[in-house]
Amino acid sequence: MTAAFMNPINTQTWTSGRHVVRCVKVIQETEDVRTFCFSAEMPVMYFFKPGQFITLELEIDGQQVMRSYTISSSPSVPYSFSVTIKRVSDGLVSNWIHDNLVEGFELAVHGPVGEFNNIDYPAEKVLLLSGGVGITPLMSMSRWCFDTNSAVDMAFVHSARTPKDIIYRRELEYMDSRIPSFNLSIICEGYDIGESWCGYTGYLNSNMLHLITPDFMEREIFCCGPAAYMSAIKTILKESGFPMERYHEESFGSSPEEVMDDAVEQAEFAQDQLNNIDESALHLVEFTKTGKGSQIVPGETVHEAAAKVGLHIPKACGMGICGTCKVYKKSGEVVMTHNGGITDSDVEEGYILSCCSVPQGDVAVEY
Ligand code: FES
Repeated sequence: MTAAFMNPINTQTWTSGRHVVRCVKVIQETEDVRTFCFSAEMPVMYFFKPGQFITLELEIDGQQVMRSYTISSSPSVPYSFSVTIKRVSDGLVSNWIHDNLVEGFELAVHGPVGEFNNIDYPAEKVLLLSGGVGITPLMSMSRWCFDTNSAVDMAFVHSARTPKDIIYRRELEYMDSRIPSFNLSIICEGYDIGESWCGYTGYLNSNMLHLITPDFMEREIFCCGPAAYMSAIKTILKESGFPMERYHEESFGSSPEEVMDDAVEQAEFAQDQLNNIDESALHLVEFTKTGKGSQIVPGETVHEAAAKVGLHIPKACGMGICGTCKVYKKSGEVVMTHNGGITDSDVEEGYILSCCSVPQGDVAVEY
């Protein structure tokens, strides 16, 4: 018999798929960032790999919207899980969540999934690099290692706009104060009048990285943040000769502008590839509504083809589970390796998930 205000103990575990959960707590982390904690009606144990993500199924203005967020909590606290979300100006979903997702709100989630995690890439020494709200998966990894008394040597370097924008600041400092294997460094772009900041200031650069983590070349690196941040990190690492197979990154929800920025880099890369490949092996992906077309090498997805010509097909999970990137295929053959994000009837009607559909020849897509 358990008192009504206590959660009963239940050893049933959560498996991948669709689950209805209830928001049980909302924590204001910074001015524009909140953590939303969820539990199932009947307690279950949420097991996932730290760094993985879930997809929220929301209904906004009568439309079903799917949006993926990395889990910020750790499976070491298994009866609940949380996501931490920043309110973005003009961000339809993040604004809706901040305005509507209150204690007691029920919604469905899909997952957990994701290859960005510290279980599949075990290492004795890691470097966790995050920018802004990209801290969430790395916080999950840190909490896991801290709670389970693991022997992993963690260097955590977080970049924030100002001191008041540092998410989880007290908890990070607590971990730093408790165990010698957790070393925290925080970099602020700047600080406001009236604020005090004695840490690193500016943007993470090569000199700063060498100073903060002199042994970074020996570490497995996990990185999450805005596209520009991750791109700068990769440049620093490549110039230092870092073995990039030990670099792992995660990002969600690139804005159309970021897609445009990425498109320039991708176009250059694609041109290199095109120069080195037999032309008869290339596939043409046509986007009929916009009149654009993209030549791709075998193995690239329809979504990658779109990004090459600056087309932003909405994408959330990138793994064929959420359905966000669904488009209508007018002609051609693709191999679609999805994870339940599309119904059989949609497939019969000609729809595909662009993130996980690989053209087998020339393809035309309505976009
Ligand atoms: S982005 Fe989720 S299925 Fe493609």
